[in-house]
Amino acid sequence: MKISKICCIGAGYVGGPTMAVIAKMNPNIQVTIVDINEDRIAAWNDEDLSNLPIYEPGLAEIVKETRGKNLHFTTEINKAIDESEMIFISVNTPTKTYGKGKGMAADLKYVELCARNIAEVATTDKIVVEKSTLPVRTAKAIKSILHNTGSGVKFDILSNPEFLAEGTAIEDLLSPDRVLIGGESEEAIEALANIYGSWVSQDQILRTNVWSSELSKLTANAFLAQRISSINAISELCEKTEANVSEVAKAIGMDSRIGPKFLNASIGFGGSCFQKDILNLVYIARSYGLNEVADYWEQVITLNDHQKRRFSDNLISTLYNTVSGKKIAMLGWAFKKDTNDTRESAAIYVADHLLNEQANIAVYDPKVPSKKVYGDLDYLATRSEDENKELVETFDNPYDAIKDAHAVAIMTEWDEFKTYDWKKVYDLMKKPAFIFDGRNILNKDEMAEIGFEYSSIGK
Ligand code: UDX
Ligand code: ADP
Repeated sequence: MKISKICCIGAGYVGGPTMAVIAKMNPNIQVTIVDINEDRIAAWNDEDLSNLPIYEPGLAEIVKETRGKNLHFTTEINKAIDESEMIFISVNTPTKTYGKGKGMAADLKYVELCARNIAEVATTDKIVVEKSTLPVRTAKAIKSILHNTGSGVKFDILSNPEFLAEGTAIEDLLSPDRVLIGGESEEAIEALANIYGSWVSQDQILRTNVWSSELSKLTANAFLAQRISSINAISELCEKTEANVSEVAKAIGMDSRIGPKFLNASIGFGGSCFQKDILNLVYIARSYGLNEVADYWEQVITLNDHQKRRFSDNLISTLYNTVSGKKIAMLGWAFKKDTNDTRESAAIYVADHLLNEQANIAVYDPKVPSKKVYGDLDYLATRSEDENKELVETFDNPYDAIKDAHAVAIMTEWDEFKTYDWKKVYDLMKKPAFIFDGRNILNKDEMAEIGFEYSSIGK
């Protein structure tokens, strides 16, 4: 079966880059991305590519090349659904904030709405592809909704989890380690494998059953997050001893069974996936009565929360046990470099701890707009929006954020931070001038020579 028209529901961090790359690599397929958010679609259609809603290296170039040719952005959801042979569901699946499974289970209301939407408007057979990260057995729920429409339309459901990491999404999509397709219908699987086959070799395209595919996504993220919590646990031990976590990471990473990646000790992992997926895994395990399994994975989150808390506690105790009324400059708000995404960013939680101690926070991030910073803090609802406005200020220029600060806290590993004139930073700050390097990106000896009181993670 040859696909000529694709629709993707959800123009976010997954749907946007994935469809842009599919469109680029398949000029003969028309790809339409739809979203209920009109502002988001307008931003995707903006003439000025610096206004795209998502910052991702290499993305704007691909959008420029394909938009209006075979890549389209629209809010006309029903029309796009009905016209396409294959529909990707790429809507968000945040952790539930209410009811049963609150704070643990994935909220599937957006996915269910999509399935209902497809069921309502489809008049021809469709292949429906789950792209959002979903709890195992979601395909079953989607199938049940789609198959009970009575319209006589045939739906094949595939699970095709996304393994791209933000900040390197285009690279990851263009040269994936593997593509995973789970499903029942061989014809549907091959239709999707053909689309990826335009640029991915067939032996890298794994075909599995739906449940294996869904569970693989959660497991991959749980393993990756576990590595970070493991090295972060060792970082605390390093701080108490004479060991240096970077040296330990290098030494263990050279064991080919362990490997060198994902061993950077940090302020703690953030992002839309790791915490959500582990919570999901824990919830599923518990719902099957597998308490030891659930406890095991839950510890990865516990350690991550501890790492964030430890960073702010250390900052406060180093600043003579009080940050009240002191200006703390936070460099970086995104959960990692090269993205404007801030979901679950460690910076939010560290700022929140410091605000509880009445610190004044000055934020600079090269890609995150001011309204997102306030939005993230307001969403926590720890204090009123007015209080957040009063205690937090955002800046377009790092040196303005740093001026008269008692401490600089590096929250994101943006490359530009390494190139700052740190002597100038020192001169601008109150003395003694402290740096808390949550990403271990600066050189300890150089900073000490300038005069900073410098501390990093695990050293
Ligand atoms: C992750 C998975 O990597 C990706 O395969 C999946 O599809 C989605 O979830 P993402 O969350 O975009 O991707 O970014 P990732 O690079 O995995 O980083 C997650 C967090 O871990 C970031 O906060 C990052 O700073 C942190 N991290 C990563 C560390 O603290 N240390 C490391 O060594 C690596
Ligand atoms: P992700 O990182 O998973 O891509 P995002 O939040 O960036 O998550 O993107 C998900 C997108 O899905 C949002 O732009 C949201 O407006 C859109 N969305 C959610 N529900 C629906 C729906 N029922 N129909 C169309 N779009 C939807």
